[in-house]
Amino acid sequence: MMVSESGDLQADRSEPGRQAAPIAAERQSVMPRGGEAVAPSEALRVDGVSKSFGLVQALYRVSLSVDHGEVVALVGDNGAGKSTLIKVISGVIVPDEGQLYVNGERVVVRSPNDAAQCGIRTIHQDLALADNLDVVENLYLGRELFRGVGPLRRLDFAAMRQRTAAALLELGIGTISNIRTPMAQLSGGQRQTVAVARATLENCPILLFDEPTASLGLKEARHVIELVQRLRAQGTAILIITHNMRQVFEVADRIVVLHLGKVGAVLRPSSTTPEVVVRAIMGKAP
Ligand SMILES: Nc1ncnc2c1ncn2[C@@H]1O[C@H](COP(=O)(O)OP(=O)(O)OP(=O)(O)O)[C@@H](O)[C@H]1O
Ligand SMILES: [Mg+2]
Repeated sequence: MMVSESGDLQADRSEPGRQAAPIAAERQSVMPRGGEAVAPSEALRVDGVSKSFGLVQALYRVSLSVDHGEVVALVGDNGAGKSTLIKVISGVIVPDEGQLYVNGERVVVRSPNDAAQCGIRTIHQDLALADNLDVVENLYLGRELFRGVGPLRRLDFAAMRQRTAAALLELGIGTISNIRTPMAQLSGGQRQTVAVARATLENCPILLFDEPTASLGLKEARHVIELVQRLRAQGTAILIITHNMRQVFEVADRIVVLHLGKVGAVLRPSSTTPEVVVRAIMGKAP
């Protein structure tokens, strides 16, 4: 597992049978919760996560899991705790209690960098993009491409520009005419597509989307949903927050409903209706 000697991110050594073994082998045998075996396909598990901000209990003992090749929609009313949960998983917020497991192995995620090392990438609702940099620089911020070795090592601007253009093309984005445009000059929807492109550029095994289509036009939103479906087909585990019930029923394999910081219901689109989901969002019984 991704263990940094600095101690930022460590597999939990207190659990029995936890050796430095390849993840694939670990997944078969890990038994992290009271002897309950983890399914080999489980990519992410959140277990009993709580977080309060002063008197506001944003999350209370929230548990959920996402398998490889599965899309889980996280829904709930405004203030239900959805973004807080995404921030906990992505290391932006440290929870008051609770654990995270990646591929069945317990991980301690205390920063976005820890999350990245666990293969978790996030598109936050409040997009973290650098306004003074252009589209290409934002896509590759912190993971620039280089060419050459030793003293001849240089930033590979041509490759970064070419891959940026290809990524935007794949997302069907025709509205950004120049990839050298500074972010500050882009519209809200254009910024969001850049954020989606950034998160999908690497083949990350776990992707978290906090309302990725909220400020997109119809065409762009469709492309993002198609992208989510393509990534799922490639085996990516995806947790997606959306208020759009049509999208929920179009892409989700499971729906987790948060109500006042707690998991109110877990539903399958194939065996429920939008009305039932909306009732659960409001905290009502089906
Ligand atoms: N940094 C913070 N400081 C104080 N309170 C916060 C903070 N972040 C979130 N909260 C509170 O925690 C609760 C959950 O907020 P959160 O942003 O997770 O909701 P959400 O489900 O994402 O809502 P929305 O659908 O409106 O995005 C809210 O009551 C919110 O005011
Ligand atoms: Mg939110």
